[in-house]
Parts: sequence; structure tokens; C-alpha cells
Amino acid sequence: MTRPRSASGTIPSMETSHDELKDNTIIIVAGASGDLAKKKTMPALFRLFRQNFLPRDVHIVGYARSKMEHDDFLKRATSNLKVEDDDQEGQAAVGRFKDVLSYVAGDYEDGAAFDKLEEHLQEIESKYQSKEANRIFYLALPPTVFIPVAKNLKEHNYVAKNGVCRIIIEKPFGKDLDSARELLGSIKQHWAEDETFRIDHYLGKEMVKNMLVLRFANVALGAAWDKNSISNVQITFKEPFGTEGRGGYFDDFGIIRDVLQNHLLQVLSVIAMERPVSFAAEDIRDEKVKVLRCIQPIAREDTLLGQYVSANGKPGYLDDDTVPHNSVCPTFAATTLFVHNPRWEGVPFILKAGKALNEAKVEVRIQFKDVTQGIFKDISRNELVMRIQPSEAVYLKLNAKTPGLYTRALPIEMDLTYKRRFAETNIPEAYEALILDCLKGDHSNFVRHDELDIAWKIFTPILHWIDGQAGARPKPVPYPYGSRGPKELNPFIEKYGYRRSTDMYTWPVTNMAAL
Ligand code: BG6
Repeated sequence: MTRPRSASGTIPSMETSHDELKDNTIIIVAGASGDLAKKKTMPALFRLFRQNFLPRDVHIVGYARSKMEHDDFLKRATSNLKVEDDDQEGQAAVGRFKDVLSYVAGDYEDGAAFDKLEEHLQEIESKYQSKEANRIFYLALPPTVFIPVAKNLKEHNYVAKNGVCRIIIEKPFGKDLDSARELLGSIKQHWAEDETFRIDHYLGKEMVKNMLVLRFANVALGAAWDKNSISNVQITFKEPFGTEGRGGYFDDFGIIRDVLQNHLLQVLSVIAMERPVSFAAEDIRDEKVKVLRCIQPIAREDTLLGQYVSANGKPGYLDDDTVPHNSVCPTFAATTLFVHNPRWEGVPFILKAGKALNEAKVEVRIQFKDVTQGIFKDISRNELVMRIQPSEAVYLKLNAKTPGLYTRALPIEMDLTYKRRFAETNIPEAYEALILDCLKGDHSNFVRHDELDIAWKIFTPILHWIDGQAGARPKPVPYPYGSRGPKELNPFIEKYGYRRSTDMYTWPVTNMAAL
């Protein structure tokens, strides 16, 4: 397979040029024995490798505390690559991928262990044809060890000349504004901002990346993108399973820290930001920061909290052994934010996320205002829906005349379902796109330090209220496992002006599997 080239010719490219690593690069995955590495990092690296997107002669070195033989590491690292047994080309790629993998066991706090890692890295680099040596450090680790690992990597494994070093880290970045500042501040002592890539994997999702294009490459949409046309915006995250197995971690964090404060707020900032001057990372991130700065901390009365209870044979949150029996941790939250700037004043942005709901779905739903009354009464509102997952789609609900000898308006949709329109296209996974961005040195889809600070400012007061003194903590309302969420949700959304369709409209492409 030849190395794919970026879009050219008749397709306008939006790529900007960066310091791309093409040769002599080692990717070090710290936490290589853990779940994130197995489920996300290694599969993403494999897909990039298979498509020849990784640097020539790349090496991937796993590092973790567990003592593991080379073969056991290979087995673990390739256990989730999803290549069918009869896919010969895929199996051959797995074989080649194994050849670039190696593993070093060592403690996270012990400098001498990082010296051992260094010996291994230098041995690989001694075979390079030129002096150039680049290293990407991917921290697939729990936050408790971020700081010692970031420090040790800098002190023992940093190449100061003839190469580039970059570090990738991922949430949770603290638990509130103060702890996030402390954590990020400690990492900053060792790693400069331009070397640091903070992942929010939602920024790597195809539909989230499409939002900039939909908004700014379409005059028709751009003209309607403000408080004059839009009534309310909903950003919804639904998962059909509970915390099973992750109750301990989750109970400490809750759904707001897990999903709203990062993934959904990032989506909001892309929906609400002004047009960036260019596609350069700092231009994009400047606009995101500006819009976030126009948001006040969330008010308690703009918040609805829920916790799932057992239903349909499924256990409730409190039935999970790893969760304290009297936990009031929210597994569902809806919060409404307002962006105080001339474009958005008065438009509610409703963020909703929940575990153990009726389906898996993440979408943005922009509901437009009512058409002027007169010739039309009780007509459905226009809605633009951007489905992030599963099965990416964008559809615009419009009113059209029902064909026939009378005039009656009916809600219809203009529908861009990716699986139909881009049937032959391979849609990359978020982590795949983000690791490639890091190799290219492109920060556009990573979270900047000040962006994170503001995100915490918006959520910290409400989180402190939720975490507050025993007895004074808000009690989440119950909702059954597998339901659409708390029964209080509909009145909550309607309070902010959301209006359901007058007809019983359902989007016709509901059965994705049938496509
Ligand atoms: C993670 C959360 O950040 O995102 C998880 O910690 C959640 O609780 C996950 O399940 C959702 O990611 P995705 O890509 O499956 O939507």
C-alpha cells in the first residue's frame, strides 16, 4: 500500500502545514497493560500502521508496571484489533505490526526504571540511518501517576536535540478548578504547551470535525446560525449500559465530570464559536476560548440530576458492589448554559448525558424558532440534527407540501446519512485521527490549557454543590434502567423553549443496521 496523500486537486484541502514526523520515531505507550491501551490506543495505532500513516520504520514501545513476557505483550496489544481470521491482508498487517512492538516493565515513580526504558529506546535508535530521533509519549494512565510519569519521562527519556518529543495525555484532568490547575501546572513544569497534546476524543470524531465545515462553508446555514433564528440547542449523550465494573471510578467523578464538562462542552464550543481566521490550531482554539468565556457558571436551578434504578432485570446503580450503598452520585445530568454574546444572548444550550438509558446515541439538535403565524398554524419547527454516533448523519427537518390536490404542510427531511452517501469511505476512529494529528504536530483538535481552565470555571460551582457536605448534597431523581431518563426531563427541556413536533414525526432512517 502506498502512503495516502492529503486531499488535492479539485477537493479543496484545509490542511495547514506542521512539523510532521515522517521518520525515526518511537511511540511509547505508558500504561500499555491497561484497558485504554488495549481498547483504544493499540487498535488506533494498528489502523494507522495498516494504512501507512505512521512514520517509516516506526517502533511502538509499551511501558507498564506488570511484568510480561514479549509474547504475552504481543497477545495483549493485538487482542482488540478486530481483524477477521479469513482477512489475509489484515492478518499479514497484524504480523508486521507485531514486528514493531516491544515492551519494557517498570515502575512509574522510579527513575532507574525509566533509565532502563531509555536503554531500550537508544538501542532502537542506534540502528537509525540519520541522527534524527523523535519520540511520542502516550500516557494511557490513571491520573494519580500522570505527574511522576511526566516528570520521569522528561528527566530520563527526553531528546533535547536532533528530534522532537511530544506527550499525549487524557482526562480526567483534575476534579475541579483548583485540582486541575495543580495537575496541569505540575505537568507544565516539565512539558511545554507546544509539546503537550491533551486529548478530548470527541474532538477526533468525524461529525464533530464536520461541524466547522457545515457552519462556515455554507452561507445558507451560516445566515441562520444565531439567536434570531434559533430557539434552543440540545447536545445529547446516551449510553444503554450502566457503570458495570467501573462503579468505583465513576462514583468519584459522576456524569458531569465524565461527559458534560469535557465532551459535550467541547461540542458546544464548536457549535457556538465565531469563524476562525484560519484553520491554524491557535486560531481555532482562540475562538473556542472566546465563546467559553461568555458562559457563566451553571446555576443550580438550570440543572437536573438523576440516578438509575433497577428495572427490566437490570441492576440499579446502587446494586453495583463497587458503589457506596448510599451514593448520591448522578448517572444522568441535564444542564442549561447561556452564551452571553451578541450572537447567542438568550438561546439555551441544553447539555444532557446519561448512563443506562434506552439507546446509544450522541447528537446535536438545533431547533429553530416558529415561523411567523398567519397562513400557517401549529406547524412543526425546523430542526437541524447532527448525529455524532452511531452512524453519522446530518438531517434538516423542513416543512413541505404533501403531494396531492390540496395544500397541507408536512414535516420532511433533507438527509445526509454517511453510510449511504459515503458508502465506500472508511470513517476513522477518533483516536486514530488524533494520534495522526499529534504526529503532524497539529494541535487544532486538542484542548488548550486555558480552554480547560474555563471549562472548569463553568462547572466547578455546581460540582462543589453536588459533592457538598453529607446531608446537604442534592439527591438525584430516580429513573429506570433502559428508560429515556428521569420523567422530569421533558418539562425541564420544555422550560427552555423546546417544542416537540406537532405530528408524531420520526426520522425514517431509524434502523441503521438495515442500511
Ligand atoms: C469517556 C467516558 O470519556 O467517554 C466514558 O469516561 C464514556 O464513561 C466514553 O463511556 C464515551 O465515549 P464514546 O466514544 O464511546 O462515545
